[in-house]
Amino acid sequence: MEFSLKTSHPVKLRSACLIIAVSEPRKLSTTGQIVDKASKGSLLKIIRRGDMDGRSGQSLLLHNLPGIQADRVLLIGCGKDGDMNETAFIKTIGNMSAALENCGASEAHAYITDIPVKGRDVRWKVQQTVLKMSHCQYRFEQLKSNSSDKKKALRKLTMNVPGKRDLAAGESAIEQGIAISAGISIARDLGNLPSNICTPSYIAKQATALAKGQKKLKVTVLEEADMRKLKMGSLLSVSAGSRQPAKLITLQYQGGNKKDQPVVLVGKGVTFDTGGISLKPGAAMDEMKFDMCGAASVIGTISAVVAMNLPINLVGIIPTTENMPDGLATKPGDIVTSMSGQTIEILNTDAEGRLILCDALTYAEKFKPRCVIDIATLTGACIVALGKIPSAVLGNHPALIKDLIQSGNQIEDRLWELPLWDEYQEQLKSNFADMANIGGRDAGTITAACFLSRFTKKYKWAHLDIAGTAWKSGEAKGSTGRPVSLLTQFIINQT
Ligand code: BES
Ligand code: MN
Ligand code: ZN
Repeated sequence: MEFSLKTSHPVKLRSACLIIAVSEPRKLSTTGQIVDKASKGSLLKIIRRGDMDGRSGQSLLLHNLPGIQADRVLLIGCGKDGDMNETAFIKTIGNMSAALENCGASEAHAYITDIPVKGRDVRWKVQQTVLKMSHCQYRFEQLKSNSSDKKKALRKLTMNVPGKRDLAAGESAIEQGIAISAGISIARDLGNLPSNICTPSYIAKQATALAKGQKKLKVTVLEEADMRKLKMGSLLSVSAGSRQPAKLITLQYQGGNKKDQPVVLVGKGVTFDTGGISLKPGAAMDEMKFDMCGAASVIGTISAVVAMNLPINLVGIIPTTENMPDGLATKPGDIVTSMSGQTIEILNTDAEGRLILCDALTYAEKFKPRCVIDIATLTGACIVALGKIPSAVLGNHPALIKDLIQSGNQIEDRLWELPLWDEYQEQLKSNFADMANIGGRDAGTITAACFLSRFTKKYKWAHLDIAGTAWKSGEAKGSTGRPVSLLTQFIINQT
């Protein structure tokens, strides 16, 4: 879909659809009042009939309003006057997208930057509109015989901005919004694909395709034999039970100077997590195809950074494998040696994410990172602790964590910090090895991060647990693309 900006008068505007905000109770936005006046009060008259009081979720499509040039007027409810926060604004854009889908206009002109949102400027509203509209218009239909028949789809949305001086910031907001949305869509596709298609080899192929023809992006794929040479005994212990060969994918983007230290992203890429010999129960096990969403977010973020041609060095590392039960699979009690030399007693083969991440985190050292961020659907406990609103963040460098939280708040892809205190490390004690791979029932998200912290001592590091945010269950089951926008915003802020 195409997005553009304009500053034009609503009355003279020729458009298939003019979009105007209405807040409770029956209050027209500034633009709405202008249109109402031009139409000799017919807008307010219609509203006063009671069809629309401005509640959030409401919309009303009007045809042939007198006194104006536009074919249609779409009124969008935004809730109580003056009550608009970020979440409510984004919800309003979602309602706008749904209403537009149900009308015949292929082009529309939205006066939404005049909706006041506390502490947010025109730039933010424009970017969030691009992100939310793109999000709503996403479909995953490549595996259906017949794609859902849409009416004439919306092809172009023009956003009105108050003045000419808003155009420059608005244009850059659109450009970034489009790049990020494309990255999100790549991540969602990878997440939504089933594990019989989206295998470790498939992810490697997609990463390779992304780098093709891109001078600044290089990709390397390590095979299991290469990993054996590097002594990645922990990662290989997870792939031992799988017929699909594991891969370790590295994407290197050089947008900065050769000597600039890179930001390194490490994404968990378990293409299906059965639990291994510690087999998971059957209910909703299909959702374990999403256990590679960390990897997908790395690929999506890199694609956005490439599209924006950002002046920074960025490395993406993706350990990817299946976690399967098999005659050759790792068994509870088995002890493996990680690339770092530390030994691990695998008490539960379902705690496999940390086992592949720890070797990838050791491997990350070779890039002399300025910071390392790993992204993983790591623990069900994260959903118990925080639900599905924020992702969890933990790490060894408060300033890095603060920057990440701030980036998340900036772009509405939020994080919440959990404590990574030394006291929790106790829970990882093993009678037979340097550590166990699980820490018992309490504080599962924190002990998982404690495990990772033993492999990240040489650099600034943060861990994002996206178990609750990477996908939705139930009727709207599907990948969300989180936290591509947070990561991209973080990288933009680093330049
Ligand atoms: N991929 C899962 C975590 C997960 C589970 C994410 C459900 C989202 C929804 C991970 O590999 C896992 O199985 N973790 C175990 C750890 C436990 C064995 C210590 C868990 O959370 O149960
Ligand atoms: Mn697991
Ligand atoms: Zn897993």
